[in-house]
Amino acid sequence: MDNGNIIEVKNLTKMFGKFTAVDDISFDVKKGEIFGLLGPNGAGKSTTLRMLSTLSRPTKGTATVGGYDTVKNDTEVRKLIGIVSEKMIIYNRLTARENLWFFGSLFNIPKDTLTKRIDELLELVQLTKWKNAQVGTFSTGMRQRMNVVRALLNMPQVLFLDEPTLGLDPQSSVEIRDFIKKLNQEQGTTVIITTHMMVDADLLCDRIAIVDHGKIIALDTSTNLKKIISGGDTMIIKLEIANLTPDLIASVKALKCADAVTQENSTRLHLIVHGEEAFDNIIDAVREKNGKITTMENLQPSLEDVFLHITGHEVRDSADQKIPMQQGPGRRFGGAPRRVR
Ligand SMILES: Nc1ncnc2c1ncn2[C@@H]1O[C@H](COP(=O)(O)OP(=O)(O)O)[C@@H](O)[C@H]1O
Ligand SMILES: [Mg+2]
Repeated sequence: MDNGNIIEVKNLTKMFGKFTAVDDISFDVKKGEIFGLLGPNGAGKSTTLRMLSTLSRPTKGTATVGGYDTVKNDTEVRKLIGIVSEKMIIYNRLTARENLWFFGSLFNIPKDTLTKRIDELLELVQLTKWKNAQVGTFSTGMRQRMNVVRALLNMPQVLFLDEPTLGLDPQSSVEIRDFIKKLNQEQGTTVIITTHMMVDADLLCDRIAIVDHGKIIALDTSTNLKKIISGGDTMIIKLEIANLTPDLIASVKALKCADAVTQENSTRLHLIVHGEEAFDNIIDAVREKNGKITTMENLQPSLEDVFLHITGHEVRDSADQKIPMQQGPGRRFGGAPRRVR
């Protein structure tokens, strides 16, 4: 692609009956980029990924991968891509090498080439030592690395990863992120990853599309997304109150300057506020309820704050639930959230 884009998405839409799961989204991914789709459960991330990887047909709009249309030239697209879906597909009774042999034999790869590639891939994910061990004996992180490697046997230019750190402990998540980075840097693989984990998006992605209710509501680098907050008159405040009560929280929430109020533990509130008088107004409201302030601190915005600021709800509100996110306002905080773009 002359313009450097390996993926181009235009007005992509997916409807299930009358329900619009992906709502007229457009974006490009540059060759060699790690691109993230970040959003809560039910936002439409997997559905988008399935359309890009030819597994699902768009209702409207188009997507191309490597210049090939995902519907008209789906065979060509499939040659360029690897897909790691949310479900782990790996055989516990087989060894690491046997698993890769099995999946490798599904492609048209000459035997010698495949042997060499399997060895290289096992080295890449640091599993050479365990190549003859049954996958059933592996840690979750090791098994997930096997799961990702499985999608790399055909040396894809583009790798689609659907929630690769879902259900992993923090240490295994680090392993997977390191591996994705390494793959991207050493092999130049373009990576499209979906996640509802802020930390994945923040640490891994060159650019992030924030998705909510099937729409892209912001798209930029993590640094620039945070500037949505730090560039305006919005502030993030950590407020510790020794004698925090529901009544006091309610009065803080009721303040005009308070866009979002989250209780973090028995003494701590996390606030997104705006306006010059926010500090004074908060102190007044707390004093009026005889609250005892022990800490009041201005924090750097996190991606979570950005999400909360532009959607009015938290990613984790719905992400931790198994049921799909409700349509409509969901849990909202005091003050109308101001949308960007
Ligand atoms: N095959 C399907 N039939 C009907 N509704 C679906 C289907 N697949 C997904 N959905 C709905 O589309 C919305 C987006 O789903 P999904 O793309 O899986 O979200 P995410 O991956 O962001 O959690 C959800 O409300 C989900 O229930
Ligand atoms: Mg999903």
